[in-house]
Amino acid sequence: MKTLLVYYSRTGMTEKIVKMIQNKINCDIEEITDNNKYSGKLGFLKGGMNASMRRTSKINPITKNPSDYDLIIIGTPVWASNVATPIYTYLMEYNKEFKKIASFCTCMSSGYEKTLKNISLLTGKEQTSTMFLTAEDMGNPKEKINNFINEIK
Ligand SMILES: Cc1cc2nc3c(=O)[nH]c(=O)nc-3n(C[C@H](O)[C@H](O)[C@H](O)COP(=O)(O)O)c2cc1C
Repeated sequence: MKTLLVYYSRTGMTEKIVKMIQNKINCDIEEITDNNKYSGKLGFLKGGMNASMRRTSKINPITKNPSDYDLIIIGTPVWASNVATPIYTYLMEYNKEFKKIASFCTCMSSGYEKTLKNISLLTGKEQTSTMFLTAEDMGNPKEKINNFINEIK
């Protein structure tokens, strides 16, 4: 199954999980970034505002065509109980090209159910597998990652 893992990560948590998944399955990777600066306190506020108002942004050009893949795995941090703005934009722009999807999110502690559900709603697709990781889970995420991957297979 040809798989593309698409993610955004502001501070490296989601990226850490991406790397662990990449070590276990054969997949291509697409990191999504946009033209906003989300660093620092102002960036945090901007991110929260953009995500809660469901604003799209101008994402940088993608390098992989999602329609070439059997499965798209989406990885996003939770922003204001929603997907991060760069991923929200990617979903809005490309969801018609997805075949199967699965997703995961990282968060401090809350908003993950809504985030994962929003991915299904935004894409109009049932997901083969979902996973969330809270700050507490990040210390030892291996079991959750294994379960996530087994469900995908
Ligand atoms: C703008 C913004 C909004 C956030 N909103 C939430 C939230 O609603 N619930 C939560 O548990 N964590 C929230 N967080 C924390 C991140 O989801 C969490 O730290 C995540 O693991 C960061 O992933 P990253 O390092 O890949 O960017 C928020 C962070 C940012 C920057």
